[in-house]
Amino acid sequence: MKRVKYTIANWKMNGLNGAVKVVNSIDRHVKKTRHKKSKVVICPPFTLLTNFINAKTGINFGGQDCHHFNEGAFTGCISAQMLKSAGCKYVIIGHSERREYQKETSKELNLKIDIANKYNLKIIYCIGEKLSEIKIRKKILNSQLSSLPKKINIKNLIIAYEPVWAIGTGKTPTIGEINSIHLDIRNLLSKKIGKSKSQNISILYGGSVNPSNASDILNLDQVDGALVGGASLKSKDFSKIIDSYS
Ligand code: PGA
Repeated sequence: MKRVKYTIANWKMNGLNGAVKVVNSIDRHVKKTRHKKSKVVICPPFTLLTNFINAKTGINFGGQDCHHFNEGAFTGCISAQMLKSAGCKYVIIGHSERREYQKETSKELNLKIDIANKYNLKIIYCIGEKLSEIKIRKKILNSQLSSLPKKINIKNLIIAYEPVWAIGTGKTPTIGEINSIHLDIRNLLSKKIGKSKSQNISILYGGSVNPSNASDILNLDQVDGALVGGASLKSKDFSKIIDSYS
């Protein structure tokens, strides 16, 4: 069966300088090459979202997080409803940097996924083990997957497998490992939601994806795209990654 492929940029807290240029250049590239092999999504900082969305490019946009309530006294936070009303179609939830620095818990992530699902945002749910957890990787991934709400609409769910030790380090698991870990994740999903539903969920790889390794990673049969950090900030590099599907 054919799953949707995604090439997703996670700009993190970057992009103030030249962001419009980068988006325009990626947009031109996607249009010029009539690229249809993956859906291209950019998740910039919140302050840049509206400008980009209003510019009406062929690119989809998403937030990097959302709160688990709609509104209220939560200084510094943004809700799924707000992302939706700004025109976002996607939201990243559970990125390891938020788990680490914002101390996001499984319970909280479960509520965030739930509310993003209610607003029909496509959820890019990040999971991945730390270096010290490699030996118990499967157990860690399984417990992170337990944050998925029972009632989630599978059409709104994308999983991003991002080994924490691979993010921004230039290191990645081997190509064979990536494929087999993705297969493990699909089997874990299958136990939770059933085999046929699990076959439809796109599982992306993230962690030091760059123009040189993208083609090897993105053409693995278990990999349905990439979540790209550093290399998504340069339009040339990100465009090369977009072109890496065979
Ligand atoms: P990286 O980041 O591509 O810079 O390793 C990926 C991510 O954190 O999503």
